[in-house]
Amino acid sequence: MTMFDRKRQSPRRTDEALRLVSVTKVYGSGDGAVTALDGVTLSLPTGSFTAVMGPSGSGKSTLLQCAAGLDRADQGQILVDGEEMGGGGEAARTRFRRERIGFIFQQYNLLPTLTVEENTSLPLRLAGRRTDPERVRAILTQVGLGERLRHLPDELSGGQRQRVAIARALVTRPAVVFADEPTGALDTRSARDVLGLLRETVRRHGTTVVLVTHDPVAASYADSVLFLADGRLAGHLAAPTAEAVAERMTHLGDVVAERHAHNSPLMEV
Ligand SMILES: Nc1ncnc2c1ncn2[C@@H]1O[C@H](COP(=O)(O)OP(=O)(O)O)[C@@H](O)[C@H]1O
Ligand SMILES: [Mg+2]
Repeated sequence: MTMFDRKRQSPRRTDEALRLVSVTKVYGSGDGAVTALDGVTLSLPTGSFTAVMGPSGSGKSTLLQCAAGLDRADQGQILVDGEEMGGGGEAARTRFRRERIGFIFQQYNLLPTLTVEENTSLPLRLAGRRTDPERVRAILTQVGLGERLRHLPDELSGGQRQRVAIARALVTRPAVVFADEPTGALDTRSARDVLGLLRETVRRHGTTVVLVTHDPVAASYADSVLFLADGRLAGHLAAPTAEAVAERMTHLGDVVAERHAHNSPLMEV
């Protein structure tokens, strides 16, 4: 059981929100096998905001899906807030995910027949936890949707839908929130709003956020950037600016070509 801090009713956290040890994921088998993740080892402190970048097909989504328990890694260990995600059955992984992890999708994945308020409280109901209407409304107010509680998703703009999805991801006070291209379907202004909201959530509530993006501007909202190439970590950048991220991205292609030429492992982060 998670320990709860009585005053804030927040789960007590370890210092390390996420640890991956030699995580490998292969799709398919035989000649058609694709190694999407090739021995990824990383550690993210609690309260950090990390962007994951890399060329298309470099394994970003696979990394998030495995780390979030939406998919199963073939090898390696994944620890969330100090607890190992079992390699076991689907049901156990689902329970682990519902208790510890929030996920934000590019296409929002809201249920069209549920109101904003009902979509937001759904993870609590799925986890068999008490739905506290005041808390649900407080979170929706934080994301700027306090006046839209009874609206249905298709009565909202894209940016508003993504803010519902953020509220839904935060409602269980997860140890880590993963977001896969959360601004990919948004116009520039809504995208900035959503990224600013994620950054503010990290600052104000000590949430740990991992953001996959291919946009250097989006990555610059994070505290640090991890680069992936060919399913392996290929570098790290602290206090990223959009320019520095874009510059690194242009060199990732060279890194991959060189690795293929020498068949040598990359520097590890
Ligand atoms: N369900 C799948 N079946 C087979 N191959 C897949 C599947 N999902 C991803 N891949 C392959 O794994 C590699 C990594 O994909 P992905 O994690 O989606 O990369 P990214 O998100 O960085 O674009 C790619 O070569 C991709 O084609
Ligand atoms: Mg992807």
